[in-house]
Amino acid sequence: MQQPVFSLTISSPTNIALIKYWGKRDAKINLPINSSVSVTLNQRDLRTVTTVSASRSFSRDRLWLNGEEEDVNASRRVLAVFREVRARAGDLRDPKTGQVLVRKDEWDGLRVWVVSENNFPTAAGLASSAAGYAALTFALSKLYGLPDSLADELSCIARMGSGSACRSLAGGFVAWDMGQRADGVDSRARQVADEAHWPELQVLVLVVSDTKKTVSSTAGMQTSVDTSPLLAHRAAAVVPGRLAEMEAAYQSRDFGKVAELMMRDSNQFHATCLDTYPPVFYMNDASRAIVRMVHALNEAAGETVCGYTFDAGPNAVLLTLKRHLPTVLAAANTHFPPKRPVEATLASESLLAALKSTPL
Ligand code: ADP
Ligand code: DP6
Ligand code: CO
Repeated sequence: MQQPVFSLTISSPTNIALIKYWGKRDAKINLPINSSVSVTLNQRDLRTVTTVSASRSFSRDRLWLNGEEEDVNASRRVLAVFREVRARAGDLRDPKTGQVLVRKDEWDGLRVWVVSENNFPTAAGLASSAAGYAALTFALSKLYGLPDSLADELSCIARMGSGSACRSLAGGFVAWDMGQRADGVDSRARQVADEAHWPELQVLVLVVSDTKKTVSSTAGMQTSVDTSPLLAHRAAAVVPGRLAEMEAAYQSRDFGKVAELMMRDSNQFHATCLDTYPPVFYMNDASRAIVRMVHALNEAAGETVCGYTFDAGPNAVLLTLKRHLPTVLAAANTHFPPKRPVEATLASESLLAALKSTPL
């Protein structure tokens, strides 16, 4: 007899940290050494689309990323997300009729296939792991009938996939509290201001390279924790005060302050990479040219019209205000033709609202 396939598709946004997460106190469940704050970008240009399908005819879990099959059992993170979602499984119901399609106690007989695509460079410092694991967590939670009331737990599950992923489950400005507990239940993300808080804010993504980084974020930050005294100092003595200042700055929409704190934090994060032994280089000559361009632009304008931040990769994310967009775009296009910067605003929807289809 042909077995039915239960399948659903969701899309998920990336996020870019204004104050960075770099370093874990527990690498098994991704507990960070400092809190962080980010903005979630809308999904028009950068998104992950993930389809999960369950069937009795599947003999094992499988996952394809950008068309290539990955070994699910070799990925501790993917296994963790599966395990945590399955531990909370409920009934799968037809969203239209409410009819139970898979009963809570029937899940053991079904395996899952995951097909995920990023429409932007993977492993290049544009937070593909954030969008990817947020998508996986959310898609599986819907498939396995987890109630929306488990939002805090979903944040923890996404975090176990990739730390930064917990921040992609909410829109607008999102803080990830490092938490104190060893089991990590208090290490999760929460929205601190929604996207409507600051409609003037504009993001520009400058893709200078789409090649995969040679040192993953996971590996890079572990070596930093093990070897960089600057990282220990940053986490203990710099980030807490900077987070408080950043919160005051975005709450009062003080663009000059937000941009300065963001640039300083990006620079310090990359300084810790240089202080890592052996050092890790994520920025390249093009990245450094962007840094110089932004400072020159601000100098010429006599005020801060633009800020930059770089994750673990060479690609730049610029922050500006809509009224300065023509100035910033003109500079970016002059320095970096022929690639046009990708314009993005803050995500207007939470991931929950982004459920695209439920063709069960
Ligand atoms: P990035 O800067 O892009 O976040 P990372 O080094 O943090 O780079 O993570 C990249 C890794 O994240 C990829 O090699 C892959 O294992 C995982 N990843 C990226 N996108 C997805 C996705 N859509 N689904 C599942 N895993 C993903
Ligand atoms: C520089 O979340 O990708 O982008 O938890 O090991 O998956 P894992 O690392 P990841 O690290 C992100 C580092 C960063 C800064 C940030 O997003 O806060
Ligand atoms: Co990542």
